[in-house]
Amino acid sequence: MSIPSLPTSDELAKMSKLFSLLDEAGRNRLLASASRRQLAASEVICREGEKGDEFFVVVSGKVSVSADDFGTAKSIAHLGRGAFFGEMAVVANQPRSATVTVVEACDLLVFGRESVESVLRDYPTVRQALGAVGVRRTEELLEKLSGS
Ligand code: CMP
Repeated sequence: MSIPSLPTSDELAKMSKLFSLLDEAGRNRLLASASRRQLAASEVICREGEKGDEFFVVVSGKVSVSADDFGTAKSIAHLGRGAFFGEMAVVANQPRSATVTVVEACDLLVFGRESVESVLRDYPTVRQALGAVGVRRTEELLEKLSGS
């Protein structure tokens, strides 16, 4: 199976509202070092508690987000086309807050920590927007775990 090419800056802006907050130069900076990754159902993309240096966008397919709830994996969310994940470890420099697993074969766009950090340094409103998503997601995650 051949790896599809990277989206253009315009396609990236259409894929997710987050990227429409950047201008073309910002999107192109991210795309310059991005890669595509294709994964099959049940593959684990990132694990709760581990260090994470990659930020992902779902181009197609579906992933599930789950977190440990006293030894049981609790489902937190399902994400499909246009959704991003893995931003929390990269932006906040913290361990992965949850485990993300492929539910339906996925085509992912992958950005590395360095290019994300470099772009966020120059686009503080995007950093702010990502931070707000992180707060919302953390609240939702904690709400779904028993005893919180
Ligand atoms: P990160 O902590 O880097 O790795 C796990 C990812 O799961 C996390 O970033 C978010 O992208 C995602 N995630 C965590 N909580 C939620 C949630 N409540 N809804 C959607 N995605 C989430």
